[in-house]
Amino acid sequence: MTIHMQDEAVLTIPAPAKVNLALHITGQRDDGYHMLDSLVVFGGASDVIHFRQSDHLHLSVTGPFSEDLRHEPDNLMVRAARLLAEEFGLKAKADLTLEKNLPIAAGIGGGSADAAATIMGLFQLWDRTVRDETLRAIALSLGADVPMCLEGSCLRAEGIGDELTSGPRLPNDLGLVLINPHIPISTPDIFKNLKSKDNSPMGPIPSAFLSATALAEWLSEQRNDLELAAIAQAPIIENVLQALNDDGDCLLARMSGSGATCYGMFATKKHAEYAARRMAFSHPNWWVSHGGVQ
Ligand code: C5P
Repeated sequence: MTIHMQDEAVLTIPAPAKVNLALHITGQRDDGYHMLDSLVVFGGASDVIHFRQSDHLHLSVTGPFSEDLRHEPDNLMVRAARLLAEEFGLKAKADLTLEKNLPIAAGIGGGSADAAATIMGLFQLWDRTVRDETLRAIALSLGADVPMCLEGSCLRAEGIGDELTSGPRLPNDLGLVLINPHIPISTPDIFKNLKSKDNSPMGPIPSAFLSATALAEWLSEQRNDLELAAIAQAPIIENVLQALNDDGDCLLARMSGSGATCYGMFATKKHAEYAARRMAFSHPNWWVSHGGVQ
């Protein structure tokens, strides 16, 4: 995760989208949480968080999706700040500004990415140290996807999403297009209505993919087991996948997380940029973003 120190009191940290390139559901625990096996990358679009010193804890939200957060009573960033302050024995005080560029309830971990970036930022702002396990436990208590967002680089997630190992080396210039049709999806609803009968984990992952084509070929053998349940709730997801698949340069299209955001994989960032322009032009009502991957 890149951290930019602008002056003594101000930090700016990006909170990149979490994209599940593949997501296999392998079982269910007694407490209802599902076991999974997922290859995760970060990129394609980012929220951005600005941190300033303050005597109180204050969060303001700007950006294209700020309205959608207005009525959220217990923002994950505020909860993250309080938990971290408690751990340090401090009063929670910081002025946080969230630039909300990622759609809400979209399967790309926006809230989890923001919580993880808040932890990273406050850690710096409050100039404290903490054991990695403590940090991971705080992250996990905020949500199953928060620990992976703390890592912020290509990884394999197992367990309920909290058992993390480094992922394969990816081609340098890999490009992604992210599309969301502006339909919010409730993750618990999708897990409840799972339609997949196949509980198998992902196939063995090579240590490196030398080209985007090789990665797309490997991914074409993997799945997102939440896709059918999400399509049943929001059939437009199929249109998004179709639009990406119809693009001559798109190597693979799949839904991320519990949807409705889908990703298209492209050989280079330039290919992704041009495809995103085509998509935005032909579907002006969809949120379309593009970028590289980390
Ligand atoms: O942990 P988080 O709050 O992000 O999860 C939201 C909901 O998604 C959970 O309450 C649960 O219903 C479902 N979930 C699941 N298995 C996971 C992660 C989430 O069933 N591994």
